[in-house]
Amino acid sequence: MAKKNFKTVKKSKQKLTEQVTMEKLTGLCKRRGFIFPACEVYGGFANAYSYGPYGVELKNNLKKLWWKKFVQDRADMVGIDGPIILHPKLWEASGHTTGFSDAMVDCKKCKKRFRADHLVEELTGEDMEGELERMTQTLKELKAKCPECGAFDWTEARDFNMMFETKMNGIEGEVYLRPETAGAIFVEFKNILDSMRVKIPFGIAQIGKAFRNEIVAGNFTFRLREFEQMEIEYFIDPKMEWKKIYDQWLDQQEEFILEVGAEKRNLRRYEHPKAKLSHYSKKTVDIEYRFPFGFKELFGLANRTDFDLSQHSKFSNEKLEYFDPVKNRRYIPHVLEPTFGMDRTILVALLAAYREEKVEQGERVVLKFPKHIAPIKAAIFPLLKNKPELVKKAKQIFDSLKNRFVLEFDDHGNIGKRYRRQDEIGTPYCITVDFDTLKDKTVTIRDRDSMRQERVKINDIEQYISE
Ligand code: GAP
Repeated sequence: MAKKNFKTVKKSKQKLTEQVTMEKLTGLCKRRGFIFPACEVYGGFANAYSYGPYGVELKNNLKKLWWKKFVQDRADMVGIDGPIILHPKLWEASGHTTGFSDAMVDCKKCKKRFRADHLVEELTGEDMEGELERMTQTLKELKAKCPECGAFDWTEARDFNMMFETKMNGIEGEVYLRPETAGAIFVEFKNILDSMRVKIPFGIAQIGKAFRNEIVAGNFTFRLREFEQMEIEYFIDPKMEWKKIYDQWLDQQEEFILEVGAEKRNLRRYEHPKAKLSHYSKKTVDIEYRFPFGFKELFGLANRTDFDLSQHSKFSNEKLEYFDPVKNRRYIPHVLEPTFGMDRTILVALLAAYREEKVEQGERVVLKFPKHIAPIKAAIFPLLKNKPELVKKAKQIFDSLKNRFVLEFDDHGNIGKRYRRQDEIGTPYCITVDFDTLKDKTVTIRDRDSMRQERVKINDIEQYISE
């Protein structure tokens, strides 16, 4: 599947030509309680965002979908939930303490700081990651202007370590907030072997927060300093034919984002050129999505060989090996690492769902989420707020369904406005209780996508929504 996409693509600036723009999306997210700029009462803070009531429901649905697909439905996977603050030696072993940096450059005039590699890529289309001298030279030669003030007066490009430092009682020196969730997985490899009946090939999965002191955060929730990852370390025998398993993982990563609502035409794979690979990586591919600001990394997959387990063995003096009783062989497994960003997944779910449609009454904005990820599955409306018998019946229906579905009760304003609100938060069904309900025990169910309305018996609502 999808093999035809499996080629090295040249980075391009191709944009999403749909109706959705980042401005429209951020407006909707704030207006309708998906995502708010954090600390707005203090003027906002460092490109941080809070997930609002519908945002957190959406996020939880996506986490559940991921966990079911990659952990619960598979016999070869187990999950963990490790700490955010880990032993400082772990980051020495993984190379983060010395090597986890991005290239930064400052405008000498306005003092604004930028990612040097991003500036040169904008200008040349070339990825110069890791080549500080060339970046400095290119900015000079092309007389690159500061995007903030228009000046042309740059410092040299230099490395900036992105780990967040903190202090901890009883520990000498700095400790760090984890810059990725993967580290917590590697250090539990031995415990998983000792406590679980896992056999190679098997994987360990984790969902959790990661922290990076990004030089420039931005593009809404695309690049944050505090974000969530969903990561897997999949351990294989070094003698195994890894390429097939690698391709299967890529297909499954793509399958996941299609289940979230992305369209295939907005996805592509970017294989990192051999010359740019980390010394331990045999192969790294990014799955990119066509965001309104161009194709950008959504997920990644790397063959990290035995680098991590070997390094942690060396730094901890613990043997992190696997014994294969059938082949009577002991070895350090190799690892394939499928990594997923949660916040970017949410962004894709929102972008892919967004539609503006002409309807009889004018225009509507609707989030056409796949129904299984919609934050609210059904909204229940008494036709009139001031008719206690309607409100009472609607509440009864709410109570009878609340254990099965996430619901919303709304008795504000006219029905048309209530429909618009539910369209904008992507609720698949609106259930209206009217005077006929009291007589014939039926309700009107309105479908989000077709806007068709149907009379359904109260007793059949549960089955109607489930189907
Ligand atoms: N363990 C491998 C690893 O962390 P990565 O490509 O640096 O790889 C994995 O990060 C994923 O985490 C990315 O594909 C992206 O979805 C997400 N991610 C990385 N940095 C992010 C940031 N600053 N804000 C939001 N998501 C980010």
